[in-house]
Amino acid sequence: MKRKSLVILTVLMMLMTAVLAGCGGSGDSGDGDSDTVKIGLVQLVEHTSLDQIREAIITQLEEEGYVDGENIEIDYQNAQNEQSNLKTICQGFVADDVDVIVAITTPAAQVAMGETDAIPIVFSAVTDPVAAEVVTDMEQPGGNVTGTSDAISVEKIMELAEQITPGFKTVGALYNSSETNSVATVDALKAYAEEHSLEVVDSAITSANEIQTAAQNLAQKCDIVFSPTDNTVASAIATANQVFIDEGIPFYVGADSMVKDGAFATYGIDYDYLGRETANMVIEILNAADPAEMPVRTMDELAIYVNSETAEALGIEIPQEVLDQATDLAKEDL
Ligand code: TRP
Repeated sequence: MKRKSLVILTVLMMLMTAVLAGCGGSGDSGDGDSDTVKIGLVQLVEHTSLDQIREAIITQLEEEGYVDGENIEIDYQNAQNEQSNLKTICQGFVADDVDVIVAITTPAAQVAMGETDAIPIVFSAVTDPVAAEVVTDMEQPGGNVTGTSDAISVEKIMELAEQITPGFKTVGALYNSSETNSVATVDALKAYAEEHSLEVVDSAITSANEIQTAAQNLAQKCDIVFSPTDNTVASAIATANQVFIDEGIPFYVGADSMVKDGAFATYGIDYDYLGRETANMVIEILNAADPAEMPVRTMDELAIYVNSETAEALGIEIPQEVLDQATDLAKEDL
């Protein structure tokens, strides 16, 4: 009996040694260590929310035992909001034959999927994956692409605006019209406005340089201004905040990070949680799950975020019943 288990143990140990030595042949091109899992992580631009998402992804991978530089390699690249950079970065990942591409934002996901239909792509924080054409079906992506969505409710944000700053008639929309994510939300805003006899003043920009002028123009024409989760606006939000504070315009936004950075208020999702969910999907795929069959994950817990310093600068008193439910990002961290 004792002898038998010793034999089994020896055989097992030999097998393990063989596997560890790399006899498994994972199909990599052969340069370097073929057992190390490689993740290509592409982020459109730097702003508070995307940085938070990226950090949450890396932390969650780590907590689940996938540690960058130890048993996995994360190749993180930032495209500085340049479409051409996105393309170069994603082509590099494909040439490198990474195991999974993680694409943070809609534009990053769109470019990544244009470069490969073989390597699994997990997108993160894509506002409207169907409108952006990264999947055709939220429940059954069907291809090599799935991920998380940070879809928000324009209705909820407008209802919040109605509660805090009632009686507005004209809503300015500040966004980059080349971001599909923003266009999808502004379309929802226009539909809402139609139903509620509001007027939307559309101020589409195409680069961060235009924010100052667009914001000033909107401030002259509107009672309140709204920006969706627009990466271009978010990456230069201080400029917009300054204009709207100077002009006394409540600036409602799509994300908590924008409120943290000085905008007025939102009804939004928790991006730390979204980042962690993104990492969980990556791990499932590394463990052989098929992206084609993994439904896109949406975040259904939304919360109110306000900035009391901005409120004070605007001379607006936020009703107590709103404050009771809200997180004040002038006082708390994301
Ligand atoms: N939802 C955006 C997209 O689809 C990405 C995003 C996440 C974002 N968090 C944000 C944009 C905060 C602006 C602010 O591309």
